[in-house]
Amino acid sequence: METIIEKAKQFVKANCSTESSGHDYHHAMRVYNMALYLAVGYDVDLNIVSLAAILHDLDDPKIVGDNSQLALGFLKEHVSLDYQKQVIDIINNMSYTSYLQGKRLSSLEGKIVQDADRLDALGAIGIARCFAFSGKNGHLIYDNSIDDKSAIAHFYQKLLNLDVLMNTTEAKIIANNRIEFMKNYLEQFFKEWR
Ligand code: ADP
Ligand code: NI
Repeated sequence: METIIEKAKQFVKANCSTESSGHDYHHAMRVYNMALYLAVGYDVDLNIVSLAAILHDLDDPKIVGDNSQLALGFLKEHVSLDYQKQVIDIINNMSYTSYLQGKRLSSLEGKIVQDADRLDALGAIGIARCFAFSGKNGHLIYDNSIDDKSAIAHFYQKLLNLDVLMNTTEAKIIANNRIEFMKNYLEQFFKEWR
């Protein structure tokens, strides 16, 4: 299985090395490393955690449009049907958009990967990713409102509230620290803005 996990990393590297909205290979690797860290002490299948974390953003409709099935293609080639189902179920239901649609993850493996992905939207890296995503999608940095599509508005609409959505205790602690940092960043941002 270790070889397959290595192949999954290479597959993601090959497919999203030029992705510039914060969902690149390095994001996948951070989510993978954080998921393994969060999984310590839990009775979970680390192969499921690893594969879901590494492959989770390959087919995100926000990035590659609908009908992309790269992750499934990879899994079909390398793992059993049972594994394919478990990993795809996590990937299909872990996003914030899925959450807003009322979808919930049933497995602990999924909840851990979801926490790791959400944590990467927070802190210094979360700030960088928010601006990268905004710029790539044609949104302003800030437009004197927190109710529009600007990057700063996105902090208030989503990022600063992610702590309560964390499934694991450790992720909640990390989220709180990172959100504290973001609030300090916003304080400085508005000081300069004025
Ligand atoms: P998920 O990880 O649940 O799929 P997203 O892909 O929506 O969530 O978010 C991933 C990253 O993209 C986050 O770091 C987030 O800040 C950024 N992002 C998503 N939507 C926006 C937006 N409207 N404006 C700014 N950044 C966004
Ligand atoms: Ni992600």
